[in-house]
Amino acid sequence: MRARTILANFLAAGACFAVSSHLATTSAAAPAFTHNSTHFLLHGEPYQIIGGQMDPQRIPPVYWRDRLKKARAMGLNTIFPYIFWNMLEPVQGTWQTTGENDIPAFFRIAQEEGLNIALRPGPYICGERDWGGFPAWLAAVPGMVVRSYNVPFLNASKSYIERLAQDLRPLQVTRGGPILMVQVENEYGSFGSDHNYTSALRDILLANFDTMLYTNDGGVDWTLAGGSVPGVLAEVDGDPNSGFRSLRNYITDPSQQGPLLDGEYYTWAPDQWGPHNPHNTSQNRPEVVEQFTKDLDYVLGNESASISLYMFHGGTNFGFSNGALWQNRTTAFTSSYDYGSPLDESGRVTDLYHTFRRIIQKYVPLGSLPDIPPDAPRMALPEFNLSLAGKLFDLRVSKTTAKYPVTMEALGQAYGFTLYEHTTPASVQGFVQPGDRARDRVLVYVDGIIKGVIDSQYQHPNNVSVSLAPGAKLQLLVENLGRVDYYSTGNPYRNYLQDPYKGILGNVTIGSTVIEGWDMYKMPLEDIGDVQTLSTSSWDSSTPSFYRSTFSLKNPSSTPPAELDTFVVIPAGVRGDVWVNGFHLGRYWRVGPQQSLYLPGTVVRPDGQTNEIVVLELEPSQVTSQMSAVGLSERAWGNSPDLDCVGCV
Ligand SMILES: *[C@@H]1O[C@H](CO)[C@@H](O)[C@H](O)[C@H]1NC(C)=O
Ligand SMILES: *[C@@H]1O[C@H](CO)[C@@H](O)[C@H](O)[C@H]1NC(C)=O
Ligand SMILES: *[C@@H]1O[C@H](CO)[C@@H](O)[C@H](O)[C@H]1NC(C)=O
Ligand SMILES: *[C@@H]1O[C@H](CO)[C@@H](O)[C@H](O)[C@H]1NC(C)=O
Ligand SMILES: *[C@@H]1O[C@H](CO)[C@@H](O)[C@H](O)[C@H]1NC(C)=O
Ligand SMILES: *[C@@H]1O[C@H](CO)[C@@H](O)[C@H](O)[C@H]1NC(C)=O
Ligand SMILES: *[C@@H]1O[C@H](CO)[C@@H](O)[C@H](O)[C@H]1NC(C)=O
Ligand SMILES: *[C@@H]1O[C@H](CO)[C@@H](O)[C@H](O)[C@H]1NC(C)=O
Ligand SMILES: *[C@@H]1O[C@H](CO)[C@@H](O)[C@H](O)[C@H]1NC(C)=O
Repeated sequence: MRARTILANFLAAGACFAVSSHLATTSAAAPAFTHNSTHFLLHGEPYQIIGGQMDPQRIPPVYWRDRLKKARAMGLNTIFPYIFWNMLEPVQGTWQTTGENDIPAFFRIAQEEGLNIALRPGPYICGERDWGGFPAWLAAVPGMVVRSYNVPFLNASKSYIERLAQDLRPLQVTRGGPILMVQVENEYGSFGSDHNYTSALRDILLANFDTMLYTNDGGVDWTLAGGSVPGVLAEVDGDPNSGFRSLRNYITDPSQQGPLLDGEYYTWAPDQWGPHNPHNTSQNRPEVVEQFTKDLDYVLGNESASISLYMFHGGTNFGFSNGALWQNRTTAFTSSYDYGSPLDESGRVTDLYHTFRRIIQKYVPLGSLPDIPPDAPRMALPEFNLSLAGKLFDLRVSKTTAKYPVTMEALGQAYGFTLYEHTTPASVQGFVQPGDRARDRVLVYVDGIIKGVIDSQYQHPNNVSVSLAPGAKLQLLVENLGRVDYYSTGNPYRNYLQDPYKGILGNVTIGSTVIEGWDMYKMPLEDIGDVQTLSTSSWDSSTPSFYRSTFSLKNPSSTPPAELDTFVVIPAGVRGDVWVNGFHLGRYWRVGPQQSLYLPGTVVRPDGQTNEIVVLELEPSQVTSQMSAVGLSERAWGNSPDLDCVGCV
């Protein structure tokens, strides 16, 4: 019952759900991976999937092998990775396939380490990622309706799948690779029931892959009805007890029936920013861990059932890559995607890892699990001061002028901040309404002085009142906190999956006056090297500021990068972002629960070389002590009140 409570919590928080399926191959030889009514069969032999989720694009590539070795050593035989389309095709038709986007390399290492792959390419993946993995440019394509039988959407999805398959086709089990099967969409039944859409997507996948397909949906009747696809093996996620019963009860089309797989068994639910939101973890909650072990025993004890742990290793939503939910307010996910996974954010094993390994050991041949690779100690960095490096508002790399404001997407920007600037010809006063609503967090300035914050993370944000004299300059700095990644049918809130726009949508009014005449500046902060060009003269602590410093380490260059892993804290910081050597670690916010950012040792330079840290502090006027940075080898979570929105809910 406990697991169902956790699942209920997760659902209430509006989290994601998944599904699965299969088509028989027509080849004369024994199909490499198939199933009968009770078992998955790999080269004709029964194959129980002992799976776990980790997403290559949330993990520094240098660490892929370490994470995969540890997965195998825990007893997993299959990795379930989501693929983030928005990182592969950040600009329409422009593909990024190196570094963390080198998916074939991740799959080849998995195979070398004795692991197979259940590929989860989306195109929609949810995953607590910005817009569920959709590239922001989709929002600027006329007529786009995502997750539906819509020509622009299917066309864009087709070109994505075709490009992905170009690299991954040779890595299917049918051709000697590790890819066993491919998921169609992701928990589509929670969202809709347009079978024309899911069938079209199935056909796109069939045209590009020759291995088995599956769907993965929440384990109840209506999600299975909406999400199952003819000819595709239907599977469930969440609580395996009720989920497997639902599969047996509600999947009656023989072309969708097969062995049981819990494609996402939740080992807890992700963290969201907020002064009252705790860090979610099963650590020190024996009753929760006991339920996990009972469920794992229940599934693995039946050799015809399979499971995948979500997440085995959560990793990090680096940069601006996190998603959000809409519950009449924005609930944004933190940069850390570690909520008590067996392998923690820095890839170290946890108590839960050992617990799961002990259980899995009961069901695999004695002595078949490799030894657990040792964990390197993490580094601590003594506190050092940061100095002012310039003002964000001086970082103007592009300017668009228009009578009325346009959205971030219309400006051709995907993530980060957009500055909207207006110089008033006549006096005007009243409350600022930044378009239809704050999208998502709006800092309001008049003549360079902060007047307040309109933060959509609250259902009732502050009302910010201004009084502008002729010639006064109004500036609205709008932060994209992450596009909504999940919406479920029956959810009482608005479906912002179909309205992903950021910046300002609609008119800005002050009182009843529509403000006309805007200069708009994109501030995606992709290349933080531009900070070097800023001047520090005339600083007044009112508007967002960059701070920087350097540090160097005596470690020789032969030091394994894992020994340079640390967690960066900006003790005096209120809210902002951190880069090290140009790599964007993510966001910090005093309110928590996340209080430190994972700095992978892979971006740190040893051997006395210079490392540069850049911090964007959005609210320097609230900073009450010297800005500094420190690296912790052991992190802590915690919460503080939000002084920008006292009493806001
Ligand atoms: C399915 O395969 C398993 C494993 O080979 C076998 O034990 C079982 O009898 C098969 N079931 C059917 C219905 O053929
Ligand atoms: C289809 O997608 C391709 C590649 O993304 C694009 O160049 C083309 O404009 C799209 N056509 C339509 C009709 O959407
Ligand atoms: C699905 O396609 C069929 C046949 O083209 C059509 O009659 C039906 O209206 C479509 N359904 C939806 C939901 O678009
Ligand atoms: C995780 O944290 C969120 C808020 O940050 C909360 O709503 C949710 O209930 C928590 N989930 C669990 C399983 O504790
Ligand atoms: C194992 O699962 C199958 C369904 O695939 C079910 O028929 C069988 O009763 C289960 N066996 C046990 C021991 O639970
Ligand atoms: C959400 O906001 C809408 C529109 O303002 C309102 O009708 C609805 O009652 C609100 N729902 C909740 C649960 O607050
Ligand atoms: C850091 O700044 C504080 C306050 O300005 C100062 O007292 C301290 O000496 C500085 N530390 C270093 C190492 O420069
Ligand atoms: C802001 O103004 C609206 C509309 O006048 C009002 O409903 C709301 O309560 C105000 N919010 C606060 C926090 O005062
Ligand atoms: C903005 O205001 C102008 C002038 O009142 C109006 O013509 C226009 O339709 C408004 N735009 C939006 C998106 O409401």
